[in-house]
Parts: sequence; structure tokens; C-alpha cells
Amino acid sequence: MTATASAPAFASPFPAYRGLEDAALAERIEAVRRQLGPRLVILGHHYQQDGVIAHADFQGDSYQLSKNAADRADCEAIAFCGVHFMAETADILANRPEKVAARGGRRVTVVLPDMAAGCSMADMAAIDQVEDAWTDLGTVIDTADITPVTYINSAASLKAFCGRHGGIVCTSSNARAVLDWAFARRRRVLFFPDQHLGRNTARTMGIPLTEMCVWNPHDPALGGSSREQLQQSRVILWQGHCSVHAMFKPEHVDAMRANIPGVKVLVHPECAMEVVDKADLAGSTSYIIKQVEAAAPGTKWAIGTELHLVKRLEQNHPEQTIRFLSPVVCMCATMYRIDLAHLCWSLEHIAAEKPVNVIRVDDETAKWALTALERMLAVK
Ligand code: 13P
Ligand code: SF4
Repeated sequence: MTATASAPAFASPFPAYRGLEDAALAERIEAVRRQLGPRLVILGHHYQQDGVIAHADFQGDSYQLSKNAADRADCEAIAFCGVHFMAETADILANRPEKVAARGGRRVTVVLPDMAAGCSMADMAAIDQVEDAWTDLGTVIDTADITPVTYINSAASLKAFCGRHGGIVCTSSNARAVLDWAFARRRRVLFFPDQHLGRNTARTMGIPLTEMCVWNPHDPALGGSSREQLQQSRVILWQGHCSVHAMFKPEHVDAMRANIPGVKVLVHPECAMEVVDKADLAGSTSYIIKQVEAAAPGTKWAIGTELHLVKRLEQNHPEQTIRFLSPVVCMCATMYRIDLAHLCWSLEHIAAEKPVNVIRVDDETAKWALTALERMLAVK
């Protein structure tokens, strides 16, 4: 199988695929998996819907999935059931120069089954905005004193920016270790795109709020902060957020505690500081899963992260009481775009050696993004 370019030779997936029952789609997906064997790897993020997860070779958080993508020697194509930045990261890691050389020059084709599966948080920081912010910051503080840190939930161009400027990538599972790395080298951090992960992590390090400020990319006057605020800040937080986790509120924690005596509140660090402060535990999706798996029967949880993951935990752990923290539905609508129809459509194109929705980061961006990703992978 050779799969090198996006070539939508087949008709659009719809209505041909939309009209099919889930059972028929599942059968066709499994037929492609049998046909391609280990040459095809399907990756599924924890937030993905169950019907899609059922076909994944690996389920994990953004970081684990990227590592899985890079590690399979016999893989020729990856279908990434996640969002755009994850597929970009998989392309960069799976197609590192040494990996491509070891395969005799063959690249792994990375496919995102629906190109509309983006991340609203990643979209809150564009490379030209980050470059403008860097220039503006340079008029107030010495940028040689700042480490740019990007959350993995960002475009490859932002990771490349970090690579070029002595910076690094982090995930929700290693953000603390990455900030330790950054502060061991320079005095300040510019953290993008998620202000909440940045603030929550900096607070665990004892950095007071008076030494943090928020950079609003839409405010031409120094991102909305004064010169003095910027000069006294050790952490400059990009004004971005996850629209899913922003829906969890401190009053939801209060209501759960009032209604379920003894409940433990477990949230993702993309939630606002006011929610994390009221919670018992905060951590990445993998951390959340591990906490529930390790808990004794009868443990009562209120969990603040994406709905599909919480529902799956509830199904897999009937011996515990698991509640969704918010009274309203908080789901990642873009992740949800990856459905059986899109997965089947993209896999059948891979099998026909006419891949569609190929994610290919240009070489120059990939080189510098890899620099920042490798710094992260080296952080223990
Ligand atoms: P993790 O899976 O890395 O915890 O991140 C959650 C998330 O929002 C993915 O986009
Ligand atoms: Fe992006 Fe939030 Fe969806 Fe994660 S849950 S992919 S951060 S919008």
C-alpha cells in the first residue's frame, strides 16, 4: 500500500455512507482492518463516541496517542479519530527524519476522517497573533527572558514557534514538569492557548496570581495589560479556553456536594481556576480514568470533563456512583464529527490507495515543531 497524497477520487461520503446503518458501517470498517492488518492503525481519543472507539487499536489522551503513532514500525497509515492538532502531531512524530529513513524513505499517511474536526481552543491562537504578541512583549520585557510554552492543543505553526524560540510543548499530563523545565532556564513563560491550564499549573507551583497576567490577542494595547503588570509577571497567559470545560462552574461543585454527601469532585485542568479550587482532584483524561479505576467500590464521583468519557466511565464502573458535574451537556462537538460514516469513508479510501483528508505538516514547520515536541518528550 502506498498512500502519499490527498486525492478525493471517490464521491463525497454522503449520502452514500450516511444512508448506511451503523452495523453495516461497522462491518465495512472491520473488513478494511482485516485487509490492511498492522499496516493500518486507528487511534481514538478518550472523548470519542463509543461506536468509533470500538474500532480503535489504541485509545488514549493526546500525548499517549501521539506516542503510539510514532512507535509502530509496520504502520503505513494512521486514521486519527480525534481533532486536527492531534493528527498534525501524529504526522510530525510518525514522520520524523530518522523514522522515515528507517522505513527506507516511506512516510506514514495520517488521515483525519472529518476535516471539520478542529479544536475551538486551538483556533484561539493563530501564528500571526503569537508573533505580534512576541514583538509587542519585546517592547516591554526582554524576550530572551521568556520561554514560550504551547499546550499540545495548538496548530503545528505554534509548536514550531516554540521550537524556534527555545520553547516547548506541554500536555495536561506533563504541564507541571514542563513549567519546571521552563523556569529552570528563564524567568518568565508565555503560555498559550489555554489560560486555565497555564494558571492552574502555575498555581500548583506556588506562583501567585499577582505574578500572572492575561494577554488578549484582540487588544492592540499590550494585550490589555499595563507595562507594570507585564514586567511583574512570571506567567503571561494567552486569553484562550476550551469551550467544553468552560461550561463547568463552581456552583456545580457546590450543588453536587449538597446533593451527594461524600462525593469526590474530579475535574480536568482545562476547567477554570474557581472550579479546580473547589474540586478534590484535577488532572488529564488519563489521570481521571486512573483515579476511577483505582477507587474502591462504592466511591462517589462528580466528574468535570467531556461527556463521552464520563458516560464511558459510568458504564465501565457500575460498582461506583459516577455523575457528570454539570447539569447541562458539555461535549466536544468537533470531536463528535468523527462518526462511523466518516471513518468508513476514509478507511476505504486508504485501502484503495486514494487517501482523503490527509494531514501533512510542511517540512519546515514540522522540523521546528519537532524540536519543541522532543524537548517535551525528554522532560521526565
Ligand atoms: P487530554 O486528553 O490530553 O487530557 O486533553 C483533553 C483534551 O481536551 C483533548 O483535546
Ligand atoms: Fe479542543 Fe476542548 Fe474539544 Fe479538547 S475538548 S478538542 S480542548 S474543544
